[in-house]
Amino acid sequence: MKITVVGAGGNVGSTTALTIAQRDFAKQVIAIDLVKKDGDKTFYPSKGRALDQWQTSPIHGFDTRLKGSSDYEDTRDSDICIITAGVPRRPGMSRDDLLSINANIVKSVTEQLVEKSPNTIIIVVSNPLDIMTYVAWKASGLPSERVMGMAGILDTARYSAFLAEELEVSPKDIQAQILGGHGDTMVPLPRYTTVAGIPITQLISKEKLNAIIERAKVGGGELVGLMGTSAWYAPGAAAAQMAEAIALDQNRIFPCSAWLTGQFGVKDLYIGVPVKLGAGGIKEIIEIELNEDEQKLMDGSAEAVRTAFNDLERILNES
Ligand code: NAI
Ligand code: 2OP
Repeated sequence: MKITVVGAGGNVGSTTALTIAQRDFAKQVIAIDLVKKDGDKTFYPSKGRALDQWQTSPIHGFDTRLKGSSDYEDTRDSDICIITAGVPRRPGMSRDDLLSINANIVKSVTEQLVEKSPNTIIIVVSNPLDIMTYVAWKASGLPSERVMGMAGILDTARYSAFLAEELEVSPKDIQAQILGGHGDTMVPLPRYTTVAGIPITQLISKEKLNAIIERAKVGGGELVGLMGTSAWYAPGAAAAQMAEAIALDQNRIFPCSAWLTGQFGVKDLYIGVPVKLGAGGIKEIIEIELNEDEQKLMDGSAEAVRTAFNDLERILNES
């Protein structure tokens, strides 16, 4: 099993690479990033991070060989490629600027990956997530079950961590699903949240649960406020968990951004839904039953993703 992580000189990519290595299910991780110039100095961030990480192998006790590179030849025949490349929004940069810059990065990275690994499976992490997953899918020419986005596992992990803290229970016992787009319109489903099989509604007041849901919705923003940049430990762990499910054909049920063709009343859009993940990628989109209120939230979330998608189409047509 060979896995490539692009953007691995950055925070999320390097955490993804290290988490994969620590879980020891892959033979090789190729960590790709740009070569950086600073005056007359040249730096190789993904080579440096991968070397540092490989030197933890005797301590952590893993065999996965990490190798940093800027040459896509090294990615040849990757079974799974994870794209975390992108730029953060900087002061003075409009949302459209960010959309267009990251779309160009994701498109070019995908084309280079697929040229070397035409049968790969792609997991997109770059933001805005659902839109970048679409960009990668289009650029790849791969069937949609082989191109997916990571966000739902992260959003659900945040929600579960807050619940575990509030209830003073192990996070391991919490089962939950957060669907919808990766953003403020995500769709938490308390009806499908349990603690060791006990419905969450029997364990917590409505007010406390609502407060936790609202905190999870802006969980990414809370971390940006604390650190001045977006999170990487939980995002990296989440992307690695998806890769593990595929590599080991685990048939795990995770919320992932998947291409919908009418499921949940949504057509022709990438958005977060429960999927069965194993060898070959998405084996099944699991169309759980939503009540009227949940469906309304899903419709609103799909509308928000479609607006961003239309923005991308407009920008691409203008350029
Ligand atoms: P970062 O700035 O630390 O890392 C991004 C890396 O991408 C940099 O090292 C940069 O050199 C590299 N890069 C840029 N263009 C490239 C190209 N053409 N080829 C190869 N590498 C390239 O940023 P961070 O914090 O790691 O975030 C990465 C992305 O993940 C961002 O778009 C961020 O918004 C997104 N993200 C998504 C989450 C999700 O839930 N889907 C959660 C957290 C972050
Ligand atoms: C996060 O949720 C910003 O998407 C990023 O942490």
